[in-house]
Amino acid sequence: MKTIWITGASSGLGAEISKQAQSKGYRIVKLARSFSTSKMENQNIISVHMDLLDENQVMKTVKYLSEQGLAPDVVINNAGIGIFKTAWDINQQEAEQIFRVNVLGMMALTGAVIPIMKEKQSGHIIQIGSQAGKLATAKASVYAASKHAVIGYSNAIRLELKPFGIAVSTVNPGPIATPFLKQADPSGSYENSIKKWLLDPTKVAERVVRLIETPKREVNLPWWMNVAAKAHAVAPHLFESIAGPFLTKK
Ligand SMILES: NC(=O)c1ccc[n+]([C@@H]2O[C@H](COP(=O)([O-])OP(=O)(O)OC[C@H]3O[C@@H](n4cnc5c(N)ncnc54)[C@H](OP(=O)(O)O)[C@@H]3O)[C@@H](O)[C@H]2O)c1
Repeated sequence: MKTIWITGASSGLGAEISKQAQSKGYRIVKLARSFSTSKMENQNIISVHMDLLDENQVMKTVKYLSEQGLAPDVVINNAGIGIFKTAWDINQQEAEQIFRVNVLGMMALTGAVIPIMKEKQSGHIIQIGSQAGKLATAKASVYAASKHAVIGYSNAIRLELKPFGIAVSTVNPGPIATPFLKQADPSGSYENSIKKWLLDPTKVAERVVRLIETPKREVNLPWWMNVAAKAHAVAPHLFESIAGPFLTKK
């Protein structure tokens, strides 16, 4: 039975991935700050307190779970935060917080589980990136930079880990109907302006869980945002002059 670790499993996409992976019969380790300490929810589900802002705690959690016979076959780096403000409105503390959770915390956990996977000569790291990591939009400079970092890091470790039989996938969704959007923009105006394009977290989770059995390099959702990101990469000036209004919806 595969053991799947899921960060950010207390809410939104992570909670949905946990539910669906559990129904497929995997052993689930749910990680987030909201979980008190470590609690066996049943024989195959354990929820564990872990704050990605605390590197020491991340290391201790990896050691503890490994000692409990719960070393991961798959790690889903899903935890993430966003703050949608212009580059001149966001303060240094907010920018650091975004990078510490989305990038540095993720790197700390990934760096700590890789030796375990290398030892087993197998494993799978699934990174929840974002379409913001493919195509940056206004009022998301820091968030987009953090997700570009996630994708760049993932592309590099994919090369490093291939000889050890460890797969790396990135999942890059567009906006999803989760509490994330309210936290990123408490005014609700961004969520309102993109209401009709919001992805259903159950559908995104389905695609993530499918990756566990069939690893793929990348999943991009929805398909048309992926086409837009590709068009931007080919002709950025032209693309921005045509699609400008869609890139400034925040
Ligand atoms: N929703 C969207 O529009 C959207 C679009 C593209 C990509 N994404 C990405 O999808 C992922 C999941 O987001 P979501 O939409 O499900 O958001 P969400 O509902 O707000 O969930 C975020 C999760 O991250 C965890 N988290 C936050 N800070 C943490 C910390 N310091 N240490 C450990 N865990 C922490 C939270 O748990 P605790 O608070 O309990 O710690 C929570 O479980 C994120 O990486 C996000 O960037 C979201």
